[in-house]
Amino acid sequence: MLNRRNFLTAAVGVAAAGGLAACAKEDGGSNGSSSGGSKAITLGFAQVGSESGWRTANTDSVKAAAKEAGFKLQFSDAQQKPENQISAIRSFIAQKVDVIAFSPVVVTGWDAVLKEAQAAKIPVVLTDRSVDSDESLFVTLVGSDFTDEGRRAAKILEKVLEKAGHKGKVKIAQLEGTTGAAPAIERAKGFKEVMDAEHKDDWEIVASQTGDFTRAGGKQVMQAFLQSNPDIDVLFAHNDDMGLGAIQAIEAAGKKPGKDILIVTVDGVKDGFIAMSEGKINAIVECNPLLGPQLMEAVKKVHAGEKVERWIKTEESDFMQDQAKDALPTRKY
Ligand code: AHR
Repeated sequence: MLNRRNFLTAAVGVAAAGGLAACAKEDGGSNGSSSGGSKAITLGFAQVGSESGWRTANTDSVKAAAKEAGFKLQFSDAQQKPENQISAIRSFIAQKVDVIAFSPVVVTGWDAVLKEAQAAKIPVVLTDRSVDSDESLFVTLVGSDFTDEGRRAAKILEKVLEKAGHKGKVKIAQLEGTTGAAPAIERAKGFKEVMDAEHKDDWEIVASQTGDFTRAGGKQVMQAFLQSNPDIDVLFAHNDDMGLGAIQAIEAAGKKPGKDILIVTVDGVKDGFIAMSEGKINAIVECNPLLGPQLMEAVKKVHAGEKVERWIKTEESDFMQDQAKDALPTRKY
């Protein structure tokens, strides 16, 4: 199983990366181009879908950075269906693209298609989300540390509770991301890690269900949470969009989001910051979607047979409600 923590320790180049890319190089480039040479790199990119504001910003960033780098981009939107991504990757292999990049919808089910890419000597770069496959089947991951985002959410919740003067037991509802997706698994894990280590006696997750990273999903699941658990103190939503949907459900139930129910979300999209500046979200853990430039840099290196780090991470911050108004004009997505 892919262990994101392994990436931390293996922060130097990996033979597999050089091996795959070097194969393409020896063959004169898999689309007939000379590697690092005159012909533009053809990049096949299989995106998750368009489920959230984060995803839209990520797609825009990838497209703009590919253009800036002078790549030929073959872009495919999987509409959150892993089987669509598998078809897209197979089509990239058939087209003999130079490099394949994708953000896997879920962590499992990739072995066969990744082996096909390897057999075709096309290097694969993961971006945003990881897979539960043998690490030799891809070169690198360009993206965030989701487990740490979960830990950061729990740590910032401590500050939110203190600021709100909340004492005693804390009943938490969790809106999970897409079932089986790396950010859903790892954010839940990181949050629980801190909760079990530091708040075993006072914090309790009373409800936890997927809202599929969408606003509609967040609203629908929060409605159900409020019916089964009307005394929820805190909502931890794995992304802003589900938090924003939940806010609608909370308001419809006659409660004040950010006051009656304290809310911590992940991402930091503009709409999340607007809700935070209106007092409806208490804190946001940033997850940076602007991965395009780092991804293209990695693709360039991989194609040229250069070594790359196993995990190319992104820089992120955390924001409390009182920072929202000042930060809002500076938000890029
Ligand atoms: O994989 C990143 C996650 O996917 C973002 O947090 C979420 O908004 C998106 O849908």
